[in-house]
Amino acid sequence: MSVSTLFDKIPREAPGAVETLTIRRPDDWHVHLRDGAMLKAVLPFTAAQFRRGIIMPNLVPPVTSIEAALAYRGRILAARPEGCDFAPLMTCYLTDATSPDEIERGFRDGVWAAAKLYPAGATTNAHHGVTDIAALAPVLERMEKIGMPVLIHGEATDPAVDIFDREAVFMEEEMLPLLRRHQGLKVVVEHVTTAETVALVRAHAGRAAGTITPHHLIINRTSIFQGGLRPHLYCLPVAKRERHRLALREAATSGDGNFFIGTDTAPHLRAAKQAECCSAGVFGGATALQTYVQVFDEEGALSRFEAFAAENGARFYGLPLNEGTITLEKRPCRVSPVVAVGEEDVVVFRGGEDLPWSLGGTRP
Ligand code: DOR
Ligand code: ZN
Repeated sequence: MSVSTLFDKIPREAPGAVETLTIRRPDDWHVHLRDGAMLKAVLPFTAAQFRRGIIMPNLVPPVTSIEAALAYRGRILAARPEGCDFAPLMTCYLTDATSPDEIERGFRDGVWAAAKLYPAGATTNAHHGVTDIAALAPVLERMEKIGMPVLIHGEATDPAVDIFDREAVFMEEEMLPLLRRHQGLKVVVEHVTTAETVALVRAHAGRAAGTITPHHLIINRTSIFQGGLRPHLYCLPVAKRERHRLALREAATSGDGNFFIGTDTAPHLRAAKQAECCSAGVFGGATALQTYVQVFDEEGALSRFEAFAAENGARFYGLPLNEGTITLEKRPCRVSPVVAVGEEDVVVFRGGEDLPWSLGGTRP
């Protein structure tokens, strides 16, 4: 499938110069590709935009072994559209039983790029996650020693904690102590949603970084209730107040090397979203780059977009920068409102809307 069949450009009424931005090919440092028919349906969107992706391991069952990661990587490679060079970077789902030796072996063999720490029960398929982060010390010490990043879903799991405070409580009670205990550990604070977490990442520059999603740059918590309940805008961590959205836009566009793309694109079938109990996750994968570049444009920061999209993450992970380029065009586009998955579908974040920027060509 080519990019032009996935993303419709709206014809311009009058010919004229189109503003374009050509950057090094970007990476997505946080992506849920799922498996089976869903993988096949959503992968082309991610692969049309990003050269590499950090693949989240919260499958059923979760990806906890080298063997499972290799098999999953094989399924992702097989699901790529013809001629596509998207490279999946696999992660290990940490549990209370994770062995430091398996972690080290997988990292040294190039199977794992990182490990993902879900506090048990924090989100979708996180029930096998870690129940006691302090007890994970032997694993984290080994990761620190070998330079392997830990990617953290930073939300408290105590059901008594208000859902809008879960990130803040986790940062105080778990993240700061972890950063104190493991001073040399590379930590990615995933999907940052608050101004205070932005400050925490900055205070630990060099060893901590933060990913920022497209949706948290666009919506605040009120958006989820705009005119009624909007299940397709519900994700975890849930969007916060407007002041936090503004802080995220400042962090992303600041030129600060600690922040980079992590779309957290998390597709769920419509039936799982429009349900009595709606699953958490926004499918932002089909409109991610268009959304990020729009934000940088609105903030007058297009000159800093390449660093956020294609340099900061690779540098933090210690990986080479990509070679090719992608061109973005300030030309309206409309992405399909839904992506079909067999007889069912997934609702696309900002699908069907007029987006001011579209994807142009990619050069490998
Ligand atoms: O909203 C979310 N959806 N947050 C997560 O952390 C997981 C994700 C998913 O896998 O659906
Ligand atoms: Zn995620």
